[in-house]
Amino acid sequence: MSPFRLTRTLPEDATEAALRADVLHGLTCSPKTLPPKWFYDAHGSELFDKITELPEYYPTRAEREILATRAPDIARATGARTLVELGSGSSEKTRLLLDALPGLHTYVPVDVSESALTQAGHALIAERPHLNIHALIADFTTQLLLPRAPEPRLVAFLGGTIGNLLPAERAAFLTSVRAQLSPGDALLLGTDLVKDESVLVAAYDDAAGVTAEFNKNVLTVVNRELGADFDPAAFTHVAVWDAEHEWIEMRLVSRTEQTVKIPALDLAVDFAAGEDLRTEISAKFRKDGVRRELAAAGFDLTQWFTSPGELYGLALAAPSRPAPALRPAADRITACVR
Ligand code: SAH
Ligand code: TRP
Repeated sequence: MSPFRLTRTLPEDATEAALRADVLHGLTCSPKTLPPKWFYDAHGSELFDKITELPEYYPTRAEREILATRAPDIARATGARTLVELGSGSSEKTRLLLDALPGLHTYVPVDVSESALTQAGHALIAERPHLNIHALIADFTTQLLLPRAPEPRLVAFLGGTIGNLLPAERAAFLTSVRAQLSPGDALLLGTDLVKDESVLVAAYDDAAGVTAEFNKNVLTVVNRELGADFDPAAFTHVAVWDAEHEWIEMRLVSRTEQTVKIPALDLAVDFAAGEDLRTEISAKFRKDGVRRELAAAGFDLTQWFTSPGELYGLALAAPSRPAPALRPAADRITACVR
């Protein structure tokens, strides 16, 4: 077997159908929304990598710091032979885990971004010719089916990406991961923690404007894929702290009254001046909440590591016994319930 394989879970036209459905739904309800996974075309993945290096964007550094000191503990606790990583992106921090796991046989990066998977996969194969890499192009919220691979398996979900899901989506997601794990497997979950509002807002609205460009990239994706005529300059990026839900909400605010045409959907969308288009939430967590959400999905929180200053938390969790009754996979929670 070649040490690098790339598998697409769904054909490309299904991805396009999903984009059409999401855009049609999101832009015809009030408030208008667009779901976050469409940020990550090749350009979006590059912009996200730039975000991780911004002075204001602390989560990547904080998580890397935890992994740099705690990867050996994680390795001892799990003894993983397979590392599955959801939303793996550039797999940059993952190297700390790969280095710490002596018996690792297979790495399974899972992402919607084909460009991120191929780049990361080729770089890793060059560095580690003996590692089997089976990359999966898949949406972890709807098509998560882990390939057969040696156990025990460690499923890592880093970067605080769990915070980009709404609470009900998180519950459905964690339950679906739990349903595929066996005793002895483990989950490693990265969560950004609640902190001072000014620190949080700056992390999502940086001075150099990279996050603004990233947020507007979703408009460019809709223009390219569906022939729309969004003018990114006609929208302003804002990041708002929602203290009740404890999440950051990213929005694009229409600067003027305008109409955007989306020929592929035969749709014209009117925006009032100052009207919001909601693009993303990034929920922030507390240890008790993480423990509770894990328990509800059938996991025990076994270890909790935090970065200096308690900026960021990394949870190691094990399947609890007995497994909870499997809820039917929730239909994708439609964007306009936000
Ligand atoms: N884990 C990396 C990247 C985090 S950015 C880090 O910690 O830096 C979030 C990643 O998740 C991106 O690579 C994006 O392409 C991917 N992603 C977002 N939504 C997804 C979905 N629904 N299914 C699979 N991957 C998704
Ligand atoms: N998982 C990242 C986070 O919530 C994704 C992210 C960072 C993001 N900056 C963003 C998403 C700006 C949209 C807009 O921290």
